[in-house]
Amino acid sequence: LHFSRLYTTASRQILPSQTITHVLKHAPLNSPVTIHGWVRTVRVQKEVCFAHVNDGSNVTGIQVILNEEQAKRLTTGTSVRMEGILVASLGEEQTRELQAREVAVLGKCNGETYPLQKKHHGIEFLRENAHLRTRANSGSAVMRIRSAAVAGFHKFFEEQEFINVHTPILTSHDCEGGGEVFKVTPVSAPSVLSSSAASLPATFEFFGRTVYLTVSGQLHAEILASALSRVYTFGPVFRAESSHTSRHLAEFWMLEAEVAFIDSLSHLLDLTEASIRSVIQHILDTCGPDLALFNKFTDPTLLARLRSTADKPFVRMTYTEAVAVLERAQQAAKTNFAFPPRWGSALQSEHERYLSTNHCAHPVFVTDYPGWLKPFYMRTNTSDGPDNPHATVACTDLLVPGIGELVGGSMREERFEVLADRMREAGLDLEEYAWYLDLRRYGTVPHGGFGIGFERFIAYVTGLENVRDVVACPRWVGSCRF
Ligand code: 4AD
Repeated sequence: LHFSRLYTTASRQILPSQTITHVLKHAPLNSPVTIHGWVRTVRVQKEVCFAHVNDGSNVTGIQVILNEEQAKRLTTGTSVRMEGILVASLGEEQTRELQAREVAVLGKCNGETYPLQKKHHGIEFLRENAHLRTRANSGSAVMRIRSAAVAGFHKFFEEQEFINVHTPILTSHDCEGGGEVFKVTPVSAPSVLSSSAASLPATFEFFGRTVYLTVSGQLHAEILASALSRVYTFGPVFRAESSHTSRHLAEFWMLEAEVAFIDSLSHLLDLTEASIRSVIQHILDTCGPDLALFNKFTDPTLLARLRSTADKPFVRMTYTEAVAVLERAQQAAKTNFAFPPRWGSALQSEHERYLSTNHCAHPVFVTDYPGWLKPFYMRTNTSDGPDNPHATVACTDLLVPGIGELVGGSMREERFEVLADRMREAGLDLEEYAWYLDLRRYGTVPHGGFGIGFERFIAYVTGLENVRDVVACPRWVGSCRF
């Protein structure tokens, strides 16, 4: 019987060893325990030595008391197994600590060359060392918050009777119509012989046809909502946009929901809002110490903002109202936009930031944009009349303070003829999209959905300013390092 199994625990453990969090929570005082982890700090003193060991299961790790001979074998970064007795701590930082008996070094670490030192590291430095940063407090806290957010979304959608579906990574179309897709080319294609990948004949790409990495699972989620009514999917998506900003990645994760049998944009906003507020509440309930870390070191207003997001209804305004707000701000010289706001033009990120951060200081849904600013699948507002050149579409962008756009969603055009016309206008080949049109040809239903940019959501929840810092292995324009 393994040493650490000697005490009984609240949950049934399959693996022979426990996490540090589990030991601190469940092991009785003065019981024998075993922990594993990486040494964060070592203090060698004459009387008594201390090491801090963390296994990534929580922010604090555990303080270990050892003798000089044991401590001398340890440096920051060393991986260890330690066996000993869990005792009450006299220190102020913790209530329990480990009095070590056996210390086994599993992997040595050269303290001279190990990039992570005892001191506090800046975010830029950690990004440069992204393969090691999850061993630092902020890096591992982000991962625990991501994990809690995923669990929160699954919990919410399950409660709302949604079915979790899996949409493909390889697609034959560009969902958003922005042309920002990566093309898939096998290494065995004759690009190496003569031409560049871009000029390859389609026959050499994906078994005879052109295929892309998905930019959004939406169109496939529509297939599934047209049969299962309420679906959601969570997966990686890829965008070849050349945006060097703190909000853009080339590979990011999207949570997308698609619902049949709703015929009003306001119901979609209700669902979007409820999902975000409920997941933020779930994170507040389960990630207290991790959030406290970001509140202390990244943004002192973080916790207050998250509580207010969870508690207070989001603001709702139309695109037309939003443009009027921006114009008034410009006229009153409250702000000086580089791009003057104008009805009919896209909202720039400076406009989005003004609306969410300055004007509302709270998440705000901007709805009903002019159709020409948006993709072909969005439903034209009937009240505007189908031939109205100023027709708007039943869509929304959710803008949040500090980030800007977090969610894009819309009612989908379910009327066959109206959709076909919009597709022709967008220059799409209707033959290629025959399967998509079939969904309207056979038993069409009013439906809508939305996509939440998961990294932007995590940036909002942690207060970190750059989405490159909230994903384990960030990929952005020109960067795919490991
Ligand atoms: O607004 P987008 O382009 O919407 C869609 O793709 C819809 N088909 C989703 C749907 O209705 N099912 O993207 C959705 C969200 C954005 O609001 C933003 O948060 C995020 O995805 N996003 C990005 N996040 C990181 N890096 C990028 N390059 C992003 N592009 C969009």
